[in-house]
Amino acid sequence: MKQGRKKFLKQLGAGLLAAGLPTIAHVANAAETHIDVNDFTDDGLPDNERFWKRIARKYYNVADDHINLENGYYGIQPKPVLHAFQKNIVTANEQAARFARKDYPGIASVVKKELAAFLEVSEEEIIITRNATEALNIAIQGYPFKPGDEVLLNQLDYFSMVETFKMLENRGLLKVNTFDMPLLPLSNDEIIEQYRKLITAKTKVILLTHVSNINGLIIPVTEIAAMAKAKGIDTITDSAHALGQIPFSLPQLGSDFVGFNLHKWIGNPVGAGVLYIKKERIKEMKPLYGDVAAAENSINKLAHFGTTPFAVVMTIPDSLAFHRMMGIEKISKRLDYLKTTWLNAVKDHPNVEVVTPVNLSAAIASFRIKNKTAAEVADHLFKEHKIFTVARQLGKQGCVRVTPGIYNSAADVQKLADAIKLLADQ
Ligand SMILES: Cc1ncc(COP(=O)(O)O)c(C=O)c1O
Repeated sequence: MKQGRKKFLKQLGAGLLAAGLPTIAHVANAAETHIDVNDFTDDGLPDNERFWKRIARKYYNVADDHINLENGYYGIQPKPVLHAFQKNIVTANEQAARFARKDYPGIASVVKKELAAFLEVSEEEIIITRNATEALNIAIQGYPFKPGDEVLLNQLDYFSMVETFKMLENRGLLKVNTFDMPLLPLSNDEIIEQYRKLITAKTKVILLTHVSNINGLIIPVTEIAAMAKAKGIDTITDSAHALGQIPFSLPQLGSDFVGFNLHKWIGNPVGAGVLYIKKERIKEMKPLYGDVAAAENSINKLAHFGTTPFAVVMTIPDSLAFHRMMGIEKISKRLDYLKTTWLNAVKDHPNVEVVTPVNLSAAIASFRIKNKTAAEVADHLFKEHKIFTVARQLGKQGCVRVTPGIYNSAADVQKLADAIKLLADQ
């Protein structure tokens, strides 16, 4: 994931083009997308509005009737990726069953190799799913829990994963223990301590939501996974919001089960996720979807889920290539800058409560306004200012989540800050 842009550019086209797959290198030659690698060699400093404006204008088609600050749902595909996706849709549609039966298996296998290289793991350790929910359900429901096992969750975990664990609890398969994570921890040590002090002799699994969808808190997965492992406890890591938003190395996380999606921060078309399971752990996993044909130690036994969105999967190399061309360091610093800009502008207002620790988060940050529900605030921002955000559940009042994307400008988030202060003054 941290592979240098230069090294990557050298590699462009080598493997995938040979396999007949669309790549950025291929697209780069297509006049209709006007991609120019030189656009990405600029310094791209987080506050260089000229650089980011050029990237936004040239590479993203964004609706101009509102400001989208809800990029946490899914990301907008850059134009070259959208272009590749459209071509892939046409191919899969025109060629239909012949394509799906004869060509697609080879293409999917090359895509998987490319994705594994991007994630710095073996292709035998990943499956491509339709989203992070599916990936994590396969991990959670397939985990070999034994009677009496306990799992540890908190209120900032994603509700679908919490519900999956609760469903297993209702079936008598495990016991769920939950705690309230402080919304504004001062350090990683404080976060680690929350987990450490609640581990019991029966704790079997800790769910780690790498980047919270509610307030953007970044969990120090590597440290918690190491602490858990030392006590014989597994971690299942929900990295739905981490991949592409913050830099990290999957092998270095030290978590044996990790779920991702590619349609939030990687810019792939909606409908692609990834499940990683460390090789030596695959054997003990039980398939969620019936499969008796694949070998017990093959991850393919977990991937028997039927007809795939072909074009979505085929576009993965293009979205990875564009993402790499931008560079995760550059992306995450820009996102952090946009977040910090609006947070700093509102944080001292007496009627505004920020519920995100500014130094332990990336793009996502959330807030509340005194005496107003989160839904009221989000509705107001859209109706009065054409700024789209989203209300999230958090305690009684909820919170409003704000998620800039890399095509947003500093002016966009400044408009948000002005609108928040106006409303908070009322
Ligand atoms: C933390 C977290 N985990 C999992 C998911 C589920 O992702 P998907 O919709 O790709 O299944 C989300 C989606 O918002 C999320 O925020």
